[in-house]
Amino acid sequence: MKAVSVLLSLLLAWIAAALPPQRAALDKEQAAALYKAFPPFPALDPHFPPGGSTPALLSPILIPRTPGSENASLVRQHFVDHFAALGDSWTLLRDEFTAPVPEYGGLSGTLNFTNLIFRLNPPGYDADDISAKYLTLVAHYDSKIAPHGFIGATDSAVPCAILMYIAQALTAATRRRWADDPWAAQSDLALQIIFMDGEEALVEWSAKDSLYGARHLAERWEAETRAYPYGRLSEIQNIDLFVLLDLLGAEAPTVPCFFGMTAWACRQLSDTESMLRSAGIAASNKNTDANSKKQKNYINPTNLMTNAFVDDDHMPFLKRGTPVLHIIPVPFPLSWHTILDNGDNLSLDAIHDWSIFLATWVAGYLGLAEYIE
Ligand SMILES: *[C@@H]1O[C@H](CO)[C@@H](O)[C@H](O)[C@H]1NC(C)=O
Ligand SMILES: *[C@@H]1O[C@H](CO)[C@@H](O)[C@H](O)[C@H]1NC(C)=O
Ligand SMILES: *[C@@H]1O[C@H](CO)[C@@H](O)[C@H](O)[C@H]1NC(C)=O
Ligand SMILES: [Zn+2]
Repeated sequence: MKAVSVLLSLLLAWIAAALPPQRAALDKEQAAALYKAFPPFPALDPHFPPGGSTPALLSPILIPRTPGSENASLVRQHFVDHFAALGDSWTLLRDEFTAPVPEYGGLSGTLNFTNLIFRLNPPGYDADDISAKYLTLVAHYDSKIAPHGFIGATDSAVPCAILMYIAQALTAATRRRWADDPWAAQSDLALQIIFMDGEEALVEWSAKDSLYGARHLAERWEAETRAYPYGRLSEIQNIDLFVLLDLLGAEAPTVPCFFGMTAWACRQLSDTESMLRSAGIAASNKNTDANSKKQKNYINPTNLMTNAFVDDDHMPFLKRGTPVLHIIPVPFPLSWHTILDNGDNLSLDAIHDWSIFLATWVAGYLGLAEYIE
């Protein structure tokens, strides 16, 4: 009897060791360790100059960057350099295409667009054999043509810089997980980050004059299939969750949950926010002077705005059945689509807090809790 129970517990221990780790949320200590190892500032400070030993993530994006412009290609190079510095487990897919555009600024005809897709793939990953699904984080990097000199700091330079930060903060922990966990390299979940072009209308928002990059990529990925052990899947089916960041960086945002099908993810992110606020890591609830009310949470999971229609880069994917988490404040920032949406009009606390809320939540989602050092 004794021998049997020893054998049984050995067997259970062996099974437990062979099981993939749970994708648990980070606890306060793990979140604090991640924050300490990867503080979002100064790299995400809008005024932090590029060219120093700590690379600036946000300030190089704070320039007009309309589709097809020289500045847009400089911003793309900024993304490419960043991911190259994170090492060769990141691969790049350039989705380049030409689309008809309305007449604008004396030009007409077509314009070239480029979406950039960075993937953090496990070692030994075979591009022809999809076993991984992708947690897909998305923001658009193009800026509006009008008003002249429009920067689009919240729309969406800050979201792009936050995606760069998340990649930086989680690459090493992901590699440790691969080294430790035989399941991770085989299957499970990988990370995909998309910088979308042509989200803005060139002249006036319409079904044909907007979402150029997202419409193209969704159509392309619906058609492209790859083998998987039980048949073929389209690329679009390999999106585990499409997380779209937009209009972030202004103070005191209020973000509802838009979709019942992903209310669970909205809730997870909200729980992460509450945890980081109570751990004292968030910046936007530290102003405790007698007059200022305690900062409300950014994410409100009880505010289910399932009837709201906010047209954005998720729509071409949502229409094809992709689960979407849309992280966009309602109401939009006051500076929205005005010349005032610039680097001087950002809330450093909001940039800081969105960065850590999102990085901490994504770390848990990817099963990295035990691999934060
Ligand atoms: C490109 O960015 C620079 C700032 O680096 C800006 O001065 C210039 O006006 C931008 N070019 C265009 C065509 O918007
Ligand atoms: C647009 O893309 C086409 C096809 O790749 C290329 O031949 C052309 O030079 C590009 N145009 C511009 C303005 O970059
Ligand atoms: C920031 O934007 C708000 C709302 O549009 C505006 O009232 C304010 O003047 C702007 N501040 C700066 C520094 O641009
Ligand atoms: Zn916009």
